[in-house]
Amino acid sequence: MRHFHSISIGNVNLDGNLFLAPMAGYTDRAYRSLCLEKGASLAYTEMVSAEGLARNNEPTKDLAVRADNEKNLAVQLFGPDEDTIARSIDVVMKFNPQLLDINCGCPVPKVTRTGAGSALMKNPKTIGKMVSVLVKETGVPVTVKIRTGWDCSSMNYLECAEQAFDSGAAAVCMHARTKTQLYTPTAHWEYLTDLKKHFPDKVIIGSGDLFTAEDALAMFEQTGVDAVSFARGAIGNPFIFEETRALLEKGSYEEPSTEEKISALLIHLHRLCGLIGENRACREMRKHVSQYLKGVAGSVKVKRITSQAVTIGEYTEALNLLEY
Ligand SMILES: Cc1cc2nc3c(=O)[nH]c(=O)nc-3n(C[C@H](O)[C@H](O)[C@H](O)COP(=O)(O)O)c2cc1C
Repeated sequence: MRHFHSISIGNVNLDGNLFLAPMAGYTDRAYRSLCLEKGASLAYTEMVSAEGLARNNEPTKDLAVRADNEKNLAVQLFGPDEDTIARSIDVVMKFNPQLLDINCGCPVPKVTRTGAGSALMKNPKTIGKMVSVLVKETGVPVTVKIRTGWDCSSMNYLECAEQAFDSGAAAVCMHARTKTQLYTPTAHWEYLTDLKKHFPDKVIIGSGDLFTAEDALAMFEQTGVDAVSFARGAIGNPFIFEETRALLEKGSYEEPSTEEKISALLIHLHRLCGLIGENRACREMRKHVSQYLKGVAGSVKVKRITSQAVTIGEYTEALNLLEY
Protein backbone atom coordinates (compact mmCIF):
# COMPACT_ATOMS: atom_id res chain seq x y z
CA MET A 1 0.00 0.00 0.00
CA ARG A 2 1.27 3.47 -0.88
CA HIS A 3 1.38 5.49 2.31
CA PHE A 4 2.44 8.84 0.87
CA HIS A 5 -0.33 10.27 -1.26
CA SER A 6 -2.33 13.38 -2.00
CA ILE A 7 -5.39 13.87 0.12
CA SER A 8 -8.51 16.01 0.10
CA ILE A 9 -10.02 17.50 3.21
CA GLY A 10 -13.38 18.76 2.09
CA ASN A 11 -12.64 20.92 -0.95
CA VAL A 12 -8.99 21.41 -0.01
CA ASN A 13 -6.68 19.27 -2.10
CA LEU A 14 -3.30 18.66 -0.54
CA ASP A 15 -0.25 17.30 -2.35
CA GLY A 16 0.63 15.01 0.51
CA ASN A 17 -0.44 13.61 3.85
CA LEU A 18 2.40 14.69 6.17
CA PHE A 19 1.21 17.49 8.41
CA LEU A 20 2.71 19.83 10.98
CA ALA A 21 0.56 19.57 14.13
CA PRO A 22 -0.67 22.65 15.97
CA MET A 23 1.75 23.54 18.76
CA ALA A 24 1.29 26.58 20.96
CA GLY A 25 4.53 28.54 21.15
CA TYR A 26 6.02 26.70 18.16
CA THR A 27 3.92 26.64 15.00
CA ASP A 28 4.01 30.38 14.35
CA ARG A 29 4.15 31.47 10.73
CA ALA A 30 7.95 31.62 10.72
CA TYR A 31 8.17 27.93 11.52
CA ARG A 32 5.17 26.91 9.44
CA SER A 33 6.72 28.51 6.37
CA LEU A 34 9.96 26.60 6.94
CA CYS A 35 8.17 23.27 7.41
CA LEU A 36 6.09 23.88 4.29
CA GLU A 37 9.29 24.50 2.32
CA LYS A 38 10.72 21.30 3.72
CA GLY A 39 7.82 19.17 2.59
CA ALA A 40 4.97 19.53 5.09
CA SER A 41 1.71 19.13 3.19
CA LEU A 42 -0.23 21.27 5.65
CA ALA A 43 0.74 23.21 8.76
CA TYR A 44 -1.73 24.10 11.49
CA THR A 45 -1.47 27.36 13.38
CA GLU A 46 -1.01 27.39 17.12
CA MET A 47 -4.33 27.24 18.94
CA VAL A 48 -6.09 30.59 18.65
CA SER A 49 -8.58 31.77 21.25
CA ALA A 50 -12.06 32.18 19.77
CA GLU A 51 -12.87 34.55 22.64
CA GLY A 52 -9.75 36.62 21.85
CA LEU A 53 -10.76 36.84 18.20
CA ALA A 54 -14.31 37.79 19.13
CA ARG A 55 -12.88 40.62 21.26
CA ASN A 56 -10.69 41.72 18.37
CA ASN A 57 -7.55 41.16 20.44
CA GLU A 58 -4.56 42.08 18.27
CA PRO A 59 -2.00 39.50 19.58
CA THR A 60 -4.65 36.79 19.17
CA LYS A 61 -5.40 37.88 15.64
CA ASP A 62 -1.71 37.86 14.78
CA LEU A 63 -1.66 34.08 15.37
CA ALA A 64 -4.10 33.60 12.50
CA VAL A 65 -2.08 35.46 9.86
CA ARG A 66 -1.02 33.44 6.81
CA ALA A 67 2.68 32.79 6.13
CA ASP A 68 3.96 34.10 2.79
CA ASN A 69 4.22 30.65 1.23
CA GLU A 70 1.13 29.21 2.93
CA LYS A 71 -1.28 28.18 0.21
CA ASN A 72 -3.65 26.54 2.66
CA LEU A 73 -4.06 28.34 5.96
CA ALA A 74 -5.40 26.00 8.67
CA VAL A 75 -6.39 27.93 11.78
CA GLN A 76 -6.98 26.01 14.98
CA LEU A 77 -9.58 27.59 17.25
CA PHE A 78 -10.20 26.89 20.90
CA GLY A 79 -13.25 27.84 22.85
CA PRO A 80 -15.77 26.32 25.24
CA ASP A 81 -18.93 26.28 23.14
CA GLU A 82 -20.71 27.08 19.91
CA ASP A 83 -21.63 30.62 20.96
CA THR A 84 -18.03 31.61 21.52
CA ILE A 85 -17.04 30.00 18.23
CA ALA A 86 -19.88 31.78 16.44
CA ARG A 87 -18.72 35.16 17.77
CA SER A 88 -15.21 34.54 16.42
CA ILE A 89 -16.29 33.74 12.87
CA ASP A 90 -16.36 37.24 11.34
CA VAL A 91 -12.86 37.93 12.61
CA VAL A 92 -11.26 34.60 11.70
CA MET A 93 -12.77 34.70 8.20
CA LYS A 94 -10.94 37.98 7.53
CA PHE A 95 -7.78 35.87 7.40
CA ASN A 96 -9.31 33.81 4.59
CA PRO A 97 -8.47 30.36 6.01
CA GLN A 98 -8.82 27.28 3.81
CA LEU A 99 -9.39 25.07 6.88
CA LEU A 100 -10.61 25.57 10.42
CA ASP A 101 -9.86 23.19 13.27
CA ILE A 102 -11.40 22.84 16.72
CA ASN A 103 -9.09 22.05 19.61
CA CYS A 104 -10.57 19.34 21.85
CA GLY A 105 -7.23 18.16 23.19
CA CYS A 106 -5.45 20.91 25.10
CA PRO A 107 -4.87 19.70 28.70
CA VAL A 108 -3.71 23.03 30.17
CA PRO A 109 -5.86 23.88 33.25
CA LYS A 110 -6.22 27.52 32.20
CA VAL A 111 -7.96 26.25 29.06
CA THR A 112 -9.89 23.24 30.41
CA ARG A 113 -11.26 25.27 33.34
CA THR A 114 -13.22 27.34 30.82
CA GLY A 115 -14.65 24.20 29.24
CA ALA A 116 -12.38 24.43 26.19
CA GLY A 117 -9.63 22.08 24.93
CA SER A 118 -9.80 18.54 26.25
CA ALA A 119 -12.71 19.46 28.57
CA LEU A 120 -14.81 19.24 25.40
CA MET A 121 -14.22 15.48 25.41
CA LYS A 122 -16.66 15.46 28.34
CA ASN A 123 -19.28 17.12 26.14
CA PRO A 124 -19.34 15.39 22.77
CA LYS A 125 -22.60 17.12 21.82
CA THR A 126 -20.94 20.51 22.24
CA ILE A 127 -18.21 19.37 19.83
CA GLY A 128 -20.96 18.62 17.32
CA LYS A 129 -22.58 22.01 17.83
CA MET A 130 -19.26 23.81 17.39
CA VAL A 131 -18.61 21.95 14.15
CA SER A 132 -22.13 22.68 12.91
CA VAL A 133 -21.88 26.40 13.44
CA LEU A 134 -18.49 26.61 11.72
CA VAL A 135 -19.55 24.47 8.77
CA LYS A 136 -22.79 26.39 8.31
CA GLU A 137 -21.46 29.90 8.77
CA THR A 138 -18.08 29.64 7.04
CA GLY A 139 -18.39 27.07 4.26
CA VAL A 140 -14.78 26.16 5.05
CA PRO A 141 -13.88 22.51 5.77
CA VAL A 142 -13.70 21.90 9.50
CA THR A 143 -11.37 19.45 11.20
CA VAL A 144 -11.46 18.42 14.84
CA LYS A 145 -8.53 17.49 17.04
CA ILE A 146 -9.41 15.12 19.86
CA ARG A 147 -7.68 12.91 22.40
CA THR A 148 -8.80 9.36 23.22
CA GLY A 149 -10.82 10.66 26.16
CA TRP A 150 -10.55 12.64 29.36
CA ASP A 151 -9.06 9.70 31.26
CA CYS A 152 -8.72 5.94 30.95
CA SER A 153 -12.16 5.36 32.42
CA SER A 154 -13.86 7.65 29.91
CA MET A 155 -12.43 6.80 26.52
CA ASN A 156 -15.06 8.27 24.25
CA TYR A 157 -13.15 9.10 21.08
CA LEU A 158 -15.65 7.19 18.94
CA GLU A 159 -18.56 9.20 20.28
CA CYS A 160 -16.67 12.50 19.86
CA ALA A 161 -15.64 11.61 16.31
CA GLU A 162 -19.19 10.58 15.49
CA GLN A 163 -20.55 13.89 16.74
CA ALA A 164 -17.93 15.70 14.68
CA PHE A 165 -18.58 13.77 11.46
CA ASP A 166 -22.37 13.81 11.85
CA SER A 167 -22.15 17.59 12.18
CA GLY A 168 -20.15 17.90 8.97
CA ALA A 169 -16.49 17.69 10.01
CA ALA A 170 -14.22 16.92 7.06
CA ALA A 171 -11.57 15.13 9.14
CA VAL A 172 -10.72 14.12 12.68
CA CYS A 173 -7.20 14.14 14.06
CA MET A 174 -6.60 12.11 17.19
CA HIS A 175 -3.71 12.45 19.61
CA ALA A 176 -3.73 8.88 20.90
CA ARG A 177 -3.55 9.73 24.59
CA THR A 178 -6.12 10.74 27.19
CA LYS A 179 -6.09 14.21 28.72
CA THR A 180 -4.73 12.87 31.99
CA GLN A 181 -1.83 11.15 30.18
CA LEU A 182 -0.68 14.56 28.92
CA TYR A 183 2.37 13.69 26.74
CA THR A 184 3.54 10.42 28.35
CA PRO A 185 3.53 7.42 28.49
CA THR A 186 3.65 5.99 24.99
CA ALA A 187 0.72 6.93 22.77
CA HIS A 188 -1.82 4.14 22.23
CA TRP A 189 -1.93 3.80 18.48
CA GLU A 190 -4.35 0.88 18.73
CA TYR A 191 -7.09 3.45 19.33
CA LEU A 192 -6.19 5.12 16.04
CA THR A 193 -6.62 1.72 14.37
CA ASP A 194 -10.00 1.43 16.02
CA LEU A 195 -11.04 4.95 15.02
CA LYS A 196 -10.13 4.33 11.37
CA LYS A 197 -11.95 1.01 11.45
CA HIS A 198 -15.11 2.74 12.64
CA PHE A 199 -14.87 5.53 10.06
CA PRO A 200 -13.29 3.85 7.03
CA ASP A 201 -14.59 6.45 4.57
CA LYS A 202 -13.60 9.50 6.60
CA VAL A 203 -10.27 11.26 6.80
CA ILE A 204 -8.47 10.28 10.00
CA ILE A 205 -5.21 11.99 10.95
CA GLY A 206 -2.91 10.32 13.47
CA SER A 207 -0.92 12.08 16.19
CA GLY A 208 1.25 10.83 19.03
CA ASP A 209 4.91 9.83 19.30
CA LEU A 210 6.00 10.65 15.77
CA PHE A 211 9.67 11.41 16.37
CA THR A 212 11.19 9.90 13.22
CA ALA A 213 10.28 9.01 9.66
CA GLU A 214 10.24 5.38 10.77
CA ASP A 215 7.62 6.24 13.40
CA ALA A 216 5.41 7.72 10.71
CA LEU A 217 5.81 4.65 8.50
CA ALA A 218 4.93 2.46 11.48
CA MET A 219 1.85 4.55 12.26
CA PHE A 220 0.61 4.27 8.67
CA GLU A 221 1.24 0.53 8.67
CA GLN A 222 -0.23 -0.22 12.06
CA THR A 223 -3.25 2.04 12.11
CA GLY A 224 -4.35 2.73 8.54
CA VAL A 225 -4.68 6.48 9.18
CA ASP A 226 -4.93 8.69 6.11
CA ALA A 227 -2.40 11.30 7.25
CA VAL A 228 0.06 11.82 10.08
CA SER A 229 0.69 14.94 12.09
CA PHE A 230 4.18 15.60 13.46
CA ALA A 231 4.44 17.55 16.71
CA ARG A 232 7.44 17.26 19.07
CA GLY A 233 9.30 15.33 16.38
CA ALA A 234 9.17 18.41 14.16
CA ILE A 235 10.54 20.84 16.75
CA GLY A 236 13.95 21.98 15.50
CA ASN A 237 13.58 19.32 12.83
CA PRO A 238 11.79 20.60 9.72
CA PHE A 239 13.66 17.87 7.82
CA ILE A 240 11.30 15.21 9.16
CA PHE A 241 8.81 15.86 6.36
CA GLU A 242 11.28 15.27 3.51
CA GLU A 243 12.78 12.33 5.36
CA THR A 244 9.40 10.71 5.83
CA ARG A 245 8.39 11.26 2.23
CA ALA A 246 11.66 9.72 1.04
CA LEU A 247 11.25 6.75 3.37
CA LEU A 248 7.67 6.16 2.26
CA GLU A 249 8.44 6.53 -1.44
CA LYS A 250 11.97 5.17 -1.81
CA GLY A 251 12.52 3.13 1.33
CA SER A 252 15.37 5.27 2.66
CA TYR A 253 16.39 8.84 3.35
CA GLU A 254 19.46 10.93 3.99
CA GLU A 255 19.91 12.73 7.27
CA PRO A 256 20.66 16.45 7.06
CA SER A 257 24.26 17.56 7.35
CA THR A 258 25.35 19.88 10.15
CA GLU A 259 25.54 22.64 7.56
CA GLU A 260 21.93 22.08 6.58
CA LYS A 261 20.84 22.09 10.22
CA ILE A 262 22.61 25.39 10.84
CA SER A 263 21.21 26.89 7.69
CA ALA A 264 17.63 25.90 8.68
CA LEU A 265 18.15 27.30 12.19
CA LEU A 266 19.32 30.62 10.78
CA ILE A 267 16.47 30.84 8.26
CA HIS A 268 14.05 30.17 11.11
CA LEU A 269 15.72 32.86 13.23
CA HIS A 270 15.67 35.45 10.43
CA ARG A 271 11.99 34.84 9.75
CA LEU A 272 11.19 35.11 13.43
CA CYS A 273 13.10 38.41 13.56
CA GLY A 274 10.97 39.62 10.68
CA LEU A 275 7.87 38.82 12.70
CA ILE A 276 8.66 39.96 16.21
CA GLY A 277 11.92 41.90 16.08
CA GLU A 278 15.49 40.79 16.69
CA ASN A 279 15.63 40.90 20.48
CA ARG A 280 12.42 38.96 21.08
CA ALA A 281 13.13 36.53 18.25
CA CYS A 282 16.58 35.71 19.62
CA ARG A 283 15.08 34.97 23.02
CA GLU A 284 12.26 32.90 21.50
CA MET A 285 14.69 30.96 19.35
CA ARG A 286 16.63 29.66 22.34
CA LYS A 287 14.08 26.91 22.99
CA HIS A 288 14.58 25.55 19.45
CA VAL A 289 18.37 25.47 19.41
CA SER A 290 19.04 22.21 21.23
CA GLN A 291 16.67 20.35 18.91
CA TYR A 292 18.28 21.79 15.78
CA LEU A 293 21.72 20.85 17.05
CA LYS A 294 20.83 17.42 18.41
CA GLY A 295 23.69 15.08 17.67
CA VAL A 296 25.99 17.84 16.43
CA ALA A 297 29.49 17.61 17.92
CA GLY A 298 30.47 20.65 19.98
CA SER A 299 26.90 21.92 20.30
CA VAL A 300 26.99 22.19 24.12
CA LYS A 301 29.07 25.37 23.96
CA VAL A 302 26.84 26.84 21.26
CA LYS A 303 23.74 26.16 23.34
CA ARG A 304 25.35 27.85 26.33
CA ILE A 305 26.14 30.98 24.33
CA THR A 306 22.82 31.18 22.50
CA SER A 307 20.96 30.81 25.81
CA GLN A 308 22.09 34.44 26.42
CA ALA A 309 22.08 35.69 22.82
CA VAL A 310 19.92 38.64 21.83
CA THR A 311 21.25 39.40 18.33
CA ILE A 312 21.56 37.47 15.09
CA GLY A 313 25.29 38.32 15.19
CA GLU A 314 25.69 36.50 18.50
CA TYR A 315 23.89 33.46 17.11
CA THR A 316 26.03 33.44 13.98
CA GLU A 317 29.24 33.80 15.97
CA ALA A 318 28.24 30.94 18.27
CA LEU A 319 27.33 28.70 15.34
CA ASN A 320 30.68 29.49 13.69
CA LEU A 321 32.33 27.69 16.61
CA LEU A 322 31.00 24.39 15.28
CA GLU A 323 33.48 22.44 13.21
CA TYR A 324 32.08 20.58 10.25
C1 LIG B 1 4.66 22.43 23.06
C2 LIG B 1 3.39 21.80 22.55
C3 LIG B 1 2.31 22.62 22.21
C4 LIG B 1 1.12 22.05 21.73
N1 LIG B 1 0.10 22.87 21.38
C5 LIG B 1 -1.03 22.33 20.82
C6 LIG B 1 -2.05 23.17 20.32
O1 LIG B 1 -1.97 24.42 20.34
N2 LIG B 1 -3.16 22.58 19.80
C7 LIG B 1 -3.29 21.20 19.73
O2 LIG B 1 -4.30 20.70 19.25
N3 LIG B 1 -2.31 20.39 20.18
C8 LIG B 1 -1.19 20.93 20.70
N4 LIG B 1 -0.17 20.09 21.09
C9 LIG B 1 -0.30 18.65 20.89
C10 LIG B 1 0.35 18.20 19.57
O3 LIG B 1 -0.32 18.76 18.46
C11 LIG B 1 0.35 16.66 19.44
O4 LIG B 1 -0.96 16.19 19.30
C12 LIG B 1 1.00 15.98 20.63
O5 LIG B 1 2.20 16.62 21.00
C13 LIG B 1 1.26 14.50 20.36
O6 LIG B 1 2.21 14.33 19.36
P1 LIG B 1 3.77 13.93 19.71
O7 LIG B 1 3.71 12.84 20.75
O8 LIG B 1 4.28 13.44 18.38
O9 LIG B 1 4.42 15.16 20.20
C14 LIG B 1 1.01 20.64 21.59
C15 LIG B 1 2.09 19.83 21.94
C16 LIG B 1 3.27 20.39 22.39
C17 LIG B 1 4.43 19.49 22.73
